[in-house]
Amino acid sequence: MTPPDPSRSTRARASKAVRKQHQELCAELNRHSYLYHIEARPEVSDPEYDELFRRLQAVERDFPELVGPESPTQRVGSEPLDKLSTVEHVAPMLSLDSTQDEEEVLRFHDRVQKALGRGMAPVYILEPKLDGASIELVYERGVLVRAVTRGNGLAGEDVTANVRTIPTVPLRLRTEHRPAPTSLALRGEVIMYISDFQDFNAGLVEAGAEPYASPRNSAAGAVRQLDSAITASRKLDVIVYDILAVEGATFPADSAGVQAIREWGLKVPERAQIVASGEEILEYHRTFSDARDGLDYEIDGVVIKLDDLAARAAMGSTSHHPRWALAYKFPPRQEVTLIEKIDVQVGRTGVLTPVALLRPVVVGGVRVSRATLHNREELKRKDLREGDMVRIQRAGDVIPQVVEVVEPGDDRPPPFEMPGECPACGTPVVEEGPRTVCPNRFGCPAQLKGRIVHFGARSALDIEGLGEETANLLVDRGLVRGLAGLFEVEPQQLMELEGFAEKSATALVDAIRAKKTPELGRFLIALGIPEVGVTVARDLARHFGSLERIRSTTREEFETVPGIGPRMSEAITGFFADERNARALDALLAHGIEPLETDPAPPKLPELGAAVFTGTLPVARVVAESAWRRLGGTTTASVSKKTTFVVAGEGAGSKLAKAEKLGVEVLDFDRFVERLREHGGDLLEG
Ligand code: IVH
Repeated sequence: MTPPDPSRSTRARASKAVRKQHQELCAELNRHSYLYHIEARPEVSDPEYDELFRRLQAVERDFPELVGPESPTQRVGSEPLDKLSTVEHVAPMLSLDSTQDEEEVLRFHDRVQKALGRGMAPVYILEPKLDGASIELVYERGVLVRAVTRGNGLAGEDVTANVRTIPTVPLRLRTEHRPAPTSLALRGEVIMYISDFQDFNAGLVEAGAEPYASPRNSAAGAVRQLDSAITASRKLDVIVYDILAVEGATFPADSAGVQAIREWGLKVPERAQIVASGEEILEYHRTFSDARDGLDYEIDGVVIKLDDLAARAAMGSTSHHPRWALAYKFPPRQEVTLIEKIDVQVGRTGVLTPVALLRPVVVGGVRVSRATLHNREELKRKDLREGDMVRIQRAGDVIPQVVEVVEPGDDRPPPFEMPGECPACGTPVVEEGPRTVCPNRFGCPAQLKGRIVHFGARSALDIEGLGEETANLLVDRGLVRGLAGLFEVEPQQLMELEGFAEKSATALVDAIRAKKTPELGRFLIALGIPEVGVTVARDLARHFGSLERIRSTTREEFETVPGIGPRMSEAITGFFADERNARALDALLAHGIEPLETDPAPPKLPELGAAVFTGTLPVARVVAESAWRRLGGTTTASVSKKTTFVVAGEGAGSKLAKAEKLGVEVLDFDRFVERLREHGGDLLEG
């Protein structure tokens, strides 16, 4: 934001008339920007717009106190940041369950029908599934206050300054058609149009820089810049498809929410459709599948969502995805190319993976030059050999895969055999099922490289600059012999390596040392304990609170944590029981690494009591019941002395009578909603 000019501090404050002029200029510019960017029907020419903009700048130069965050002059211009900070989402940003299978879509439709019960036919809203970077936008009293990447779904990176530069994101909601709600959290997708992506990549190549792999990667990269001027120089768009949370407005259905989003001046998905049958869902999918190649943006399927919000609440969500929605994906894009060579890679867990080095080919807009061949069995089954022409496919972010041989090469070499020794350390390999593994856990340089990359990965300690190339250098030059060694590396040593100057060397050393007090959950991920991914690590951290407790916990005790079964508990205790792991961990602690203790799990919700619902309620009974159960209450079908209260709707009969006879409390529906709120709940989730 433009800092106020101190030399002008003595000037008179803006008069009422000036304020009014400022407001009108802002509104006028916002309106033209909306007409140009969202509706694509500008009413003024570019020079006319620029003239208005200069007038606004002139007013703000004279009266800096008028400059607010929602002024059109304030889209670009905040100072570059040192790092992006992490912020929690207003509500969890869940994933979507997905399928490519028509039958499964119809089964989903059946499930929904069953869940809603008789008399409530499901109505769906269908939308294209945009292949970009998911983003949360938060508006307080109509003003954009925050934009956050999806991150792990619960918290992401604060990219407000960057998102402010995207012209289709209003800094203030339009209120011509409806007032702005007190607070609003939206979910959408940042995308880069394919044509803009191609131009942008061509420019990178010309400048000798590495091109981006896909429009999605380049959109994601652009929103995560530290300098918002860079984001501003990329052409991005934001399409919004969901209200994550809202205060001060209610909507009966998603379609009503989307209509509101549109009226508030944001872009919503094109060609959304409301349907009520399985056949219409399949038809929609077919239509978009045909239209896909003609679109200037990437879509990877269509999204099917129940429209009715009360019905959604009744169906609920798993920790990962809502039960009321499904992504119906397109088959992955495929191309044919040559296997030039088959190579073997060793990962951090010692697994040897055969990799096809391919003649580079563009698959659905992405240049592909390698593909994983998974394991020995798969290689044998598909009988892939060097010199073969093969069909490869790419699905979203997933590593490209080889589907089949299309044409075997001339003079085929004999079938590829996995090496008998680890290509990185020479240790004889062992076969574990279909996998080939190097057992030299602690001596194999390839495994150490993998562990280092994993240690610094985003979901682990998030160490900027500790990527594959650096890990390779650190290990190959003998600078690091174990994870703890990372904390001993000095800038001078790094400066002797290719690609490091004083600044980058100091930055990496600082980035490593800045992570000496990691959150416990992240630290657990970083250790690379088998079976322990992001969710389990978080659960363990929450449940046990400290590393010491986790280290000394028994298998049986681990199994008392919800979601942790025998296999996982064995993997965890096995990890800590291994002498060498224990030594590596102690070495980290000896270097002053102190995982931050987290509060042990909050006490379980107190039992709120048993409720019985009877009569006709203003919402589906399941909605009321699940609202009570979400808070920790129970619901039963019949009234007894154990019943805490009965919610009686219109026409309540015998159950009401029985409650009165037993002296059980009776609530009308409004009182019930009040009771929900007293306990911090509400009729609808979130
Ligand atoms: S609805 C909880 N609608 O797809 C469900 N998602 O794999 C809310 N996506 O991360 C999401 N287009 O970012 C929805 N029209 C659309 C979408 C969409 C793209 C993304 C979303 C999510 C991913 C799921």
